[in-house]
Amino acid sequence: MTRKFDFLVIGSGIAGISFALKAAQYGKVALLCKTTLSESNTSFAQGGIASVTYEPDTFAKHIEDTLISGDGHCNLAAVEKVIYEAPGQIEELLKWGIDFDKDEQGLFDLHREGGHSEHRILHHKDNTGYEIQESLIRQVKAHPEIEVYEHYFAIEILTQHHLGQIVTHHTPDIECYGAYVLNQQSNNIHTFLSKVTLLATGGIGSVYSTTTNPEIATGDGIAMVHRARGIIKDMEFVQFHPTALYHPGERPTYLITEAIRGYGAVLRTQDGKEFMQKYDERGSLAPRDIVARAIDNEMKIRGHNFVYLDVTHKNPEETKMHFPNIYKKCLELGIDITKDFIPVSPTQHYLCGGIVVDLNGCSSINRLYAAGECSCTGLHGANRLASNSLIEAIVYADAAVKDAIAKIDNITWNESIPDWNDEGTSLPEEMVLITQSFREVEQIMSTYVGIVRSNLRLKRALNRLEILYRETEHLFDKSVVSREICELRNVISVAYLIIKQALLRKESRGLHYTVDYPERMRHEL
Ligand code: FAD
Ligand code: SIN
Repeated sequence: MTRKFDFLVIGSGIAGISFALKAAQYGKVALLCKTTLSESNTSFAQGGIASVTYEPDTFAKHIEDTLISGDGHCNLAAVEKVIYEAPGQIEELLKWGIDFDKDEQGLFDLHREGGHSEHRILHHKDNTGYEIQESLIRQVKAHPEIEVYEHYFAIEILTQHHLGQIVTHHTPDIECYGAYVLNQQSNNIHTFLSKVTLLATGGIGSVYSTTTNPEIATGDGIAMVHRARGIIKDMEFVQFHPTALYHPGERPTYLITEAIRGYGAVLRTQDGKEFMQKYDERGSLAPRDIVARAIDNEMKIRGHNFVYLDVTHKNPEETKMHFPNIYKKCLELGIDITKDFIPVSPTQHYLCGGIVVDLNGCSSINRLYAAGECSCTGLHGANRLASNSLIEAIVYADAAVKDAIAKIDNITWNESIPDWNDEGTSLPEEMVLITQSFREVEQIMSTYVGIVRSNLRLKRALNRLEILYRETEHLFDKSVVSREICELRNVISVAYLIIKQALLRKESRGLHYTVDYPERMRHEL
């Protein structure tokens, strides 16, 4: 079955929904997500959304903090764009009904997180993402021009390749005509034709065995663009959050927001000693890459699996008021955070790299935009500043809508795209082949491509991954398409891109630290 839309939006997090709500004023929108509208990294966001609001904060300070955190690898134009446009996009969120906490004077109650020189994080308690996601969903459901497709899994973006042409990385003017999409309820594959397409498919946490991301985070958009010969960059900059709750076996790993350190919590080794000052004068509030590496080092020296986060010196009532969900979650596990230290360890959390886009959100493929965590705008450089992700997503979704509506009248659907061809395929005989390969990818990445890297580990990871790649492509060619086999292919592609790009970076910078090149190069790649 073929469907035609002006705008095809793949992903229902903050990037996808905010794009859809704005684009719907100019044409018909299909909004796809692979499970439910609510399941996204956006829903999980805790700390909040960064924007300059009141003095003494200034745009210059937010820009400076972002550049310092990005360790010399940010695109200044992207940094300025996001930070200057942030207050306008916060206004949009308010119009859509998002309720940010205020103080007694009616001013926004601003939090502070690692790497921020000022209090500038707007938040809703300690579950800002859920508040944003649910408010946006209410808007989408009420919109007559947006057709929502839950449990629709995008398999491939459509390009000239699907018209039988040879497309290489050197082909100029690759174009996107929409996507092949699996309806997971009927198991039919639909052709969604679009004038323009937005990829807003989120993160890649499922490539690692521990992550704060929900399991949908399999890097599908990045893998699709890689297969379509689009440009992907900065994949080596995988962010590990320093303070995920240490509770083995729980997936996703529960996050203990960085805002709690902004509020005064300090990191301690298991014998109760503070250690962050040894690593950085900003102590527990240093940028994430530094804190995560320091914790990793302390754990390795002592042979420990976790360190502690201590907030017991703060007023218990205030702690409960600011962090009610963290308080409740820990209490369920027998930890009263107003009296007990919280066991934490670093966990995969975010990807700074992804689908390269320009200042208008355009990818290297014509008619294809990307926004949110799957994209690489250059804002984050080598290490994202906390709470800069939600704001980047909404600013770039806005830029993409503006660019798309200026072009869309001159674009027509490409109706020559054939239906999906599944000739010669059958149901996979053993599902365990897929699930076991998935576990192997996670183990390879967590063991060899973590916080501290080396050439030896990266090469070993690549060799192991190549075996899985060959086996999976063979299985894919003869299997009826399922979400499971597609996700496995995608995590293998994402893992491959991370390792390959990490091997090319012959220095340590931001989130990429290798024992073979511990210094930062003066002129970066
Ligand atoms: P997501 O919100 O992840 O949405 C992805 C969407 O894509 C989903 O709807 C999914 O179904 C869909 N999708 C994916 N693949 C397919 C496919 N093949 N077919 C169809 N649909 C598909 N950032 C901050 O700025 N501040 C914070 O406080 C903060 N806290 C965080 C806390 C946690 C625990 C986590 C995990 C992240 C946090 N982040 C935070 C990061 C931030 O939440 C994410 O980077 C951001 O929400 C990503 O939004 P997105 O719209 O790009 O993608
Ligand atoms: C957190 O609340 O610590 C997460 C913030 C972020 O990832 O930006």
